[in-house]
Amino acid sequence: MRFAGKRVLVTGAASGIGRATALLFAREGAQVIIGDINEAGLAETAALIGAAATPVVYNAEDHASCRALVATAAEGGLDVLCNVAGLLKWGPTETYAVEDFERILRINTTSVFVLCQAALPHLVKAKGNVVNIASTSGLRGMIYTAAYCASKHAVVGMTTALAAEYAPKGVRINAVCPGHVNTPMTKQAPPEGDIDWPMVMRGMPKLVDGSCDPEDIAEAVAFLASDKARKATGTVLVVDGGQLVS
Ligand SMILES: NC(=O)c1ccc[n+]([C@@H]2O[C@H](COP(=O)([O-])OP(=O)(O)OC[C@H]3O[C@@H](n4cnc5c(N)ncnc54)[C@H](O)[C@@H]3O)[C@@H](O)[C@H]2O)c1
Repeated sequence: MRFAGKRVLVTGAASGIGRATALLFAREGAQVIIGDINEAGLAETAALIGAAATPVVYNAEDHASCRALVATAAEGGLDVLCNVAGLLKWGPTETYAVEDFERILRINTTSVFVLCQAALPHLVKAKGNVVNIASTSGLRGMIYTAAYCASKHAVVGMTTALAAEYAPKGVRINAVCPGHVNTPMTKQAPPEGDIDWPMVMRGMPKLVDGSCDPEDIAEAVAFLASDKARKATGTVLVVDGGQLVS
């Protein structure tokens, strides 16, 4: 029960990694405020958790909506913010819409900034922490994902910058970089166009049975958020089944 008595905000909790993370925090004693744009998925997660869950529908593209989510979460204090919500749209660069590039950055990057900005005063009070979900695409260039890679490199940069700024205030800011995780995000149909599949496959996990399940990532998030990681800040923890080993 690492999080007994703690209040934890998890975004992207209607599905995949966010759902697994919310379930783990709740199992370990936290009151979880779960946010997502997908109302039906969020209700399913809330039903799986029971009384320890407070579902809040929000849209990461809308700054006011992000701030309202934090305000609701922080009624009664806030100990941990987990930024999990995100969007992947991939495809060859020459036909990639600039509007999609901007949308990916707004959801994957700007909303993380807005949520952190709103949550930090509460986290300073609680001596709490933030765990951002970046990606191996935040550390290495991956083919056909210029927008997503840019958005996740920015999350890694933001994590270390905020860690430096908030260390003197006792707030830890860390990130997890998952590799390929079995969630709806990685089950989407491939884009139209001439795809170089051998190049795509070079980025796959090298470990035998290397694809991660959402629970593998949730465990890393919970570790970084827990007191066991009390000296870890600005840490970028890769959990990728050996995707980046060569
Ligand atoms: N699946 C992978 O292989 C993988 C690898 C590395 C990083 N990630 C990151 O992990 C995080 C979770 O992804 P996942 O794999 O669980 O995917 P997922 O699609 O299962 O979950 C993403 C969640 O974000 C929510 N979301 C999307 N746009 C939103 C918006 N505008 N407002 C609010 N919520 C919104 C979705 O509704 C969904 O519930 C993302 O940040 C993703 O980039 C995933």
